[in-house]
Amino acid sequence: MATASGTRHIPGPRLCLRKPMQPQTQHHYDVLIIGSGAAGLTLALNLPPSLNVAVLAKSVSAEGSTFYAQGGVAAVLDAHDSVESHIEDTLNAGAGLCHPDAVRYTVEHSRAAIQWLIDHGVAFTGEERDDHHHDYHLTQEGGHSHRRVIHAADATGRAIETSLIDHARARDNIVLHDNHIAVDLITTAKLGHGGNRVLGAYVLDRHCGKVEVFRARTVVLATGGASKVYLYTSNPDISTGDGIAMAWRAGCRVANLEFNQFHPTCLYHPKAKSFLITEALRGEGGKLLLPDGTRFMARFDPRGELAPRDIVARAIDHEIKRLGVECLYLDISHRDADFIKGHFPTVYARCLEFGIDITREPIPVVPAAHYTCGGVMVDLDGRTDINGLYAAGEVTFTGLHGANRLASNSLLECLVFGRAAATDIVARLPELPPVGELPAWDESRVTDSDEEVVVSHNWEELRRFMWDYVGIVRTDKRLQRAKRRVDLLGGEIHEYYGNFRVTNDLLELRNLVQVADLIIRSAMARKESRGLHYTLDFPDVAPGEPHDTILVPDNSPLR
Ligand code: FAD
Ligand code: SIN
Repeated sequence: MATASGTRHIPGPRLCLRKPMQPQTQHHYDVLIIGSGAAGLTLALNLPPSLNVAVLAKSVSAEGSTFYAQGGVAAVLDAHDSVESHIEDTLNAGAGLCHPDAVRYTVEHSRAAIQWLIDHGVAFTGEERDDHHHDYHLTQEGGHSHRRVIHAADATGRAIETSLIDHARARDNIVLHDNHIAVDLITTAKLGHGGNRVLGAYVLDRHCGKVEVFRARTVVLATGGASKVYLYTSNPDISTGDGIAMAWRAGCRVANLEFNQFHPTCLYHPKAKSFLITEALRGEGGKLLLPDGTRFMARFDPRGELAPRDIVARAIDHEIKRLGVECLYLDISHRDADFIKGHFPTVYARCLEFGIDITREPIPVVPAAHYTCGGVMVDLDGRTDINGLYAAGEVTFTGLHGANRLASNSLLECLVFGRAAATDIVARLPELPPVGELPAWDESRVTDSDEEVVVSHNWEELRRFMWDYVGIVRTDKRLQRAKRRVDLLGGEIHEYYGNFRVTNDLLELRNLVQVADLIIRSAMARKESRGLHYTLDFPDVAPGEPHDTILVPDNSPLR
């Protein structure tokens, strides 16, 4: 059962090994992929048609961060650009904590990853030359020394996600299970069989409310990030850190969860749900302004509006607090109106819905939680600490991002590591025999909750104190406050989970509380300010601090 400080087993009431259970659906696949974003679908499509593959999505398949990605994918595509330059920019943004092998591996595979997307029909912005070759438009984003971000206007994620889903649907060996939320992994260790192999997962079918068993020779976590742990976020509702929490409960190490990226520019409007204003807008000349119309970024960094994201978000936060205002402004109205509408149709239309014409006036902006740099530790093949369990995409810690992710390196990571994991799975499957019947999910000792309000109140409380105490600027005192609160919530959710039938909201809250605890513990452990982790108590970089903040669960075989 999940506790605030970490967790060890599937809870007693849920897993009954002695009592005969009602027959339950037991699915069996070669590969179970939990998550249908860029990482999960890239992996699925790189597996051979001879393998039976399930892809789970807890909502509809397209819903996830991938679908909402705006700016594009970073890749070395221009003749004047180079792998070395992209590597250098990534290392600089990562503030000394990137793993150079992961950076090189990712960047060296960037061109092939883009070609794979083009081959799968992703229509990137560009012009077709007479000889049927395309000149793709490359945009600029913060921290990049070249134009190297390939994009589909400002709706790159939609173009990628819909193309990949179409291809997955067309494949006979891939089954997409929408509205299926994975509850927990099933491992040999949890069943008391010894060893350390993943066997499948318990999965709640949200339509019928039943928990089913998915058996699989290999399981992949591709569940995205955890930015919903914060009150204000650019992310969709699915980003509740489920994969990180499930992996931790199953005994996997996690790393560098203190590095939460806040995107500097989300639309400030009570009804906009922190809609993202792409960094590419600054890449194409957008200026950040104080309420009186003056620019300020040069005071914080010589790269101005195109400094890495941690610097820009902190500068905006600083100015908002200094001036006591609710938001600052981003202005692109000096560019030609047709250029703006052509390059940023999504941002233009969304802002217009709120009465803001970006071709004529500045956009009110605030920072919001955007990306989880840390996660489940994997190697270059996407292997986790558990035999047969892989992870890919935002759920992982590959070492690529260090203390701060370079803009548009995230989709690239999904594509490169999704493919790498697929290749490794194919090579290793002969060592992983099919899985026999597994114990059914036991609901014999739980009832329906009569107090759903506990879940919604705790959800709200968690996200608010994470925003207030574990946000852009931290202190020891704030982190201690957050720790006390998350311990309390952890206890309550533990009890609630043990007594009541599971629902989507309860499962997500349980995972959010788990991940919040891991974030707070990671932030408390790092006694310096570096990249995205900024604390007033240790305002400088401390070269002697450990490179990575690695948390090891009590049930890890590596303990
Ligand atoms: P996601 O695309 O988030 O998919 C997660 C999947 O996991 C979903 O299918 C979800 O249903 C499923 N899932 C989660 N939990 C469970 C569970 N318990 N059971 C079953 N299924 C589950 N990055 C860039 O590189 N360039 C950009 O331009 C860019 N723009 C962005 C704009 C926005 C608004 C946002 C939010 C992010 C942006 N990012 C960008 C970041 C990037 O989009 C994400 O990091 C990336 O798409 C993550 O892909 P993923 O496959 O790991 O996860
Ligand atoms: C953006 O378009 O600003 C988001 C890019 C990213 O998160 O990499």
